[in-house]
Amino acid sequence: MNKKLIVALDFDNADKALNFLSNLDPNKCLVKVGLELFISEGWKILDLISERGFEIFLDLKLHDIPNTVAKSVKKISNFNVALTTVHLSGGIRMLEAASSEKGNIKILGVSILTSLSQNEIFEITDTNFDIYFNNLISIASSTNVDGVVCSPNELDRLKNFNKLKVVPGIRNDVSDDDQKRVMTSTEAYHKGADFIVVGRPITKSEDPKKALELFI
Ligand code: C5P
Repeated sequence: MNKKLIVALDFDNADKALNFLSNLDPNKCLVKVGLELFISEGWKILDLISERGFEIFLDLKLHDIPNTVAKSVKKISNFNVALTTVHLSGGIRMLEAASSEKGNIKILGVSILTSLSQNEIFEITDTNFDIYFNNLISIASSTNVDGVVCSPNELDRLKNFNKLKVVPGIRNDVSDDDQKRVMTSTEAYHKGADFIVVGRPITKSEDPKKALELFI
């Protein structure tokens, strides 16, 4: 089976994360370890998850000088990690440095966080969302990163982008949380998402096993 679902394990400790894994099937999804869980538990959480048969997306969204990012990616490549993230806004030299140390891991460039509104982008960049997004995608195209993380609403603009498209901001029900640019899983797959990332709709569900099936 070609897995396309990544479940975000946004828990604050290993016990909660590992207990939650009993609701998931490694043949149906990968799992994402983000900053909260990684900072709480460190490298050992990667081995504990990997021992249970799951492929790991380590989402630390690295953004630093090229040398520091390259050394960090090299360290990550010692672990059983399938995908990891760096910010595209770190620039071409940072992305090339990261790619040069990736080993067997796929590097994804984060474009624009799905929690940011157009107004917030303007406050940060003094330009509009479209220009900023296109610039970031050009940077991704011209480097050796394996793909990008983007909001589902940007998928239409990426029809000619032939690297991986990994898409958070997925909601199959109406929700009122911090994700502003959302779409259903069916639409996102239809529009070309190679992977979707789903957190709270599965992890906070009263019936996570059933919830998971809705996103496959
Ligand atoms: O709970 P929810 O489905 O909103 O989780 C989305 C996950 O995807 C979170 O772990 C978040 O950090 C991550 N993410 C995101 N937007 C990005 C990149 C990653 O929401 N651009």
